[in-house]
Amino acid sequence: MMIKTPEAIEKMRIAGKLAAELLVMLEPHVQTGVTTGKLNDICHDYIVNTQKAIPAPLNYGSTLSRPGFPKSICTSINEVVCHGIPNDQKKLRNGDIINIDVTVIKDGYHGDTSMMFMVGRVPEYARKLITVTQECLYKAINLVKPDARLGDIGAVIQKHAHANHFSVVEDFAGHGIGQQFHEPPSVLHFGQAGTGLILSEGMTFTIEPMINIGKKQVKIKKDGWTAVTKDGSLSAQWEHTLLVTKTGVEILTLRSNEKKPKI
Ligand code: MF3
Ligand code: CO
Ligand code: CO
Repeated sequence: MMIKTPEAIEKMRIAGKLAAELLVMLEPHVQTGVTTGKLNDICHDYIVNTQKAIPAPLNYGSTLSRPGFPKSICTSINEVVCHGIPNDQKKLRNGDIINIDVTVIKDGYHGDTSMMFMVGRVPEYARKLITVTQECLYKAINLVKPDARLGDIGAVIQKHAHANHFSVVEDFAGHGIGQQFHEPPSVLHFGQAGTGLILSEGMTFTIEPMINIGKKQVKIKKDGWTAVTKDGSLSAQWEHTLLVTKTGVEILTLRSNEKKPKI
């Protein structure tokens, strides 16, 4: 059930490419003074009218205790860990760091990816957090191949974050992905090498570590979505959608301007 057919994989490639292209398109718009609402509107319009696709976050995930997500992308600034809600008041300021997380549905399949942007001049400690978090993602991606285990992924992320005196958020995880936004398995960003699910060719899942400068604890704001660090420290996240291939991994959401991490 977790193995995609060749036909499904081809559709995952297309969805992943659209998600990656969306971030590349958005990059020049991420500037001091722009509102997160405007960034949302630019993405929504591009997904719907240019890509002829569907923004997966919009109205996603309603439960008895919270409404569905109200916007088409997630914009998470500074101490926001994930699921920040775009709005028309909040302007990006010089020195901010922001994660923009996009998920598109094309022909029934999902592509999910996020990256960090720096607004204006960003202090060295924040740059360091962003770099180490991307290294965590790349180190994890480099382990993906048939017969590797999910615990290997969590362990390498945790090891690299801790070596840099950062903490790993444990309340959110990567996930299987396909016709559903979030499918089994859960891909934890911490754990023990040699444990957990054994990977097989044809699996598709995300890795999306959230790394904090301070403590790992998070709290959810009253809007039911926005997750922030409890201690107010900065948080960073990078995400890719991946396919396990016969010999290793294919990054389905690799951007045209992104260097492939060395395997
Ligand atoms: N894109 C997020 C992820 O990586 C999920 C966002 S759910 C939403 O899994 F409802 F906030 F969009
Ligand atoms: Co995801
Ligand atoms: Co995402």
